[in-house]
Amino acid sequence: MREKPNCKGDSSVSNSPNHQASEAGCRLMAEYFPVAIDVLNSSELELDLYLVHGGGKPVLYRSTGSAYSVSDCALLAERGITHLYVPITQHRGFQALVSKQLTEAYEDPALGRAERCRIVRGSCGKMIEDFMADPTLPGLGGTIASMADRFSAWCTEDETKFGYLLDMSEHDFYTISHMVNVGVGCGLLGAELLGTEHAMVRDLVLGGLVHDVGKRGVPAEVLNKEGKLTDAEWALIRAHPQTGAEILSGQEQPEPLAVEMALSHHERLDGKGYPRGLVEAKIGLPARICAVVDVYDAMTTARPYRGPIAPRKVLAKMREEIGTAFDGEVFGAWERVVERMLEADPERAVPDDPGAEVPALSEIMPVPESVPAGTDAPTGRTVVVRRADGSGLAGELVERTFEGMTLNVAARFRAGERVHLLEPGHKPWVATFRSTRINCDGVPLSVFKFSEAKAA
Ligand SMILES: [Fe+2]
Repeated sequence: MREKPNCKGDSSVSNSPNHQASEAGCRLMAEYFPVAIDVLNSSELELDLYLVHGGGKPVLYRSTGSAYSVSDCALLAERGITHLYVPITQHRGFQALVSKQLTEAYEDPALGRAERCRIVRGSCGKMIEDFMADPTLPGLGGTIASMADRFSAWCTEDETKFGYLLDMSEHDFYTISHMVNVGVGCGLLGAELLGTEHAMVRDLVLGGLVHDVGKRGVPAEVLNKEGKLTDAEWALIRAHPQTGAEILSGQEQPEPLAVEMALSHHERLDGKGYPRGLVEAKIGLPARICAVVDVYDAMTTARPYRGPIAPRKVLAKMREEIGTAFDGEVFGAWERVVERMLEADPERAVPDDPGAEVPALSEIMPVPESVPAGTDAPTGRTVVVRRADGSGLAGELVERTFEGMTLNVAARFRAGERVHLLEPGHKPWVATFRSTRINCDGVPLSVFKFSEAKAA
């Protein structure tokens, strides 16, 4: 089984020895971040690499100035090691190294197009995968942001060359490759709509790369289920945009556009989307862009229960939903991008299978039947509030809502009192404790310096 960096920053209360051991490991690992063994390749490292055995203390494996090559990677893989660890203090050096390596691969004339795309997409996917495994670890969010910088620069330089990073082959439906594709697609579509020089193109790439981070924790059986979801499954799916927005807004340097894209990429112009059921004017351009690329990629991709669908068939199906699900101008721009790519290289996309049935849009953007629009994620879950001294207070989640960028949480704590936690400056609340972080089932909701609460 794959050795996974899995230090969730979980502050849920447990007295089991295993939990205590993992908490100690987590404290230690808060000083390091994981790097997949096949991401690095350097003749002279500008950072230190550590090995971790069984949750123990990290041991120096390679120091700054030494080499790390594909043969080292092969030896580690033979030993069943999938990740090395880099001190968090060196995360900028790591970002610079990854960016340099990717640029070298992207621009290497000796590499064929397919190999170049495989290396760049593979590294990008690894970063996203590790970020999803533990979005609370510092370093990884910044590395993905520096990748977005690279991607937007490439998109500006040569759309055709960059466009090949959009995988139009028969790739499996897998959240990580989907997120890489949506990041690339949002860059291409943003550049088509706004011009390649627009600063927002970079933010759109970043937002696309992380838009589904809230799917961490949703079981694959639910993500890949064919047919109608149960209420409980639907509640899990429905929670992923808000969970993603909370994860991203809790980052050290939150990126507002990425938060908005994660939160609103399943909204529809007709108000039948989720999680908030927003109507037309309330859905911003970044979310409209993300919605089009997201659905396009998901519909073209093979699923466990059906094959891939040819791009033009999917576009025709999506066109029926202009004005209801999709913005016409945004969709038209995406059609132009896809058409250009198909005309330049018809071989790159899956061929049309006349017998293949085009999936209904509801497969990707299910419209809720039993959960009314506008309601929130399941309640009754545990909320743990950390005090400044590190002690915890566990309570039951009563409700949580998002208003713009503001998260409102209401919870009932053990003492029986119901407290509301909001951003500071919201008047009615009376201080009972201070905290800087709220966790819900181990997933950071957000970081608020809330200081006031009041029994309801
Ligand atoms: Fe999504």
